[in-house]
Amino acid sequence: MKRIMALVLAIVMIAAFSSVAMAAGWEKCQGCHNDAGKPAIGKAKLLEKFKTADAFIKGAKDSKSPMMNAVKGNDENLKAAAADLGLK
Ligand code: HEC
Repeated sequence: MKRIMALVLAIVMIAAFSSVAMAAGWEKCQGCHNDAGKPAIGKAKLLEKFKTADAFIKGAKDSKSPMMNAVKGNDENLKAAAADLGLK
């Protein structure tokens, strides 16, 4: 029984890790940019502020927040996030 539990746990963990690794675009931003607006402004507010993908990507890169450092350098991901939000 214990062995089965360990196996199930292992599979769940692998699945969880791969979904994080595969997450691209807006999924990577949602953790912080959520509807509660904490720690960062959510989707609706971002869309009010940025009307084009270029402006959005620039906004992300210009952000002074250290929390943004992890995503700033990843152009592909910023582009994918903009596309996920429906920006062109
Ligand atoms: C670890 C948390 C975190 C993650 C992950 C994150 N952000 Fe941010 N982001 C912030 C914080 C904090 C700010 C500055 C405070 C604010 O604007 O609400 C910010 C600011 C921004 C801004 C500027 C907003 C403005 O008002 O000028 C943009 C655009 C942005 N983020 C886009 C993104 C995108 C796109 C992603 C995913 C690729 C992302 N962020 C991922 C925390 C995060």
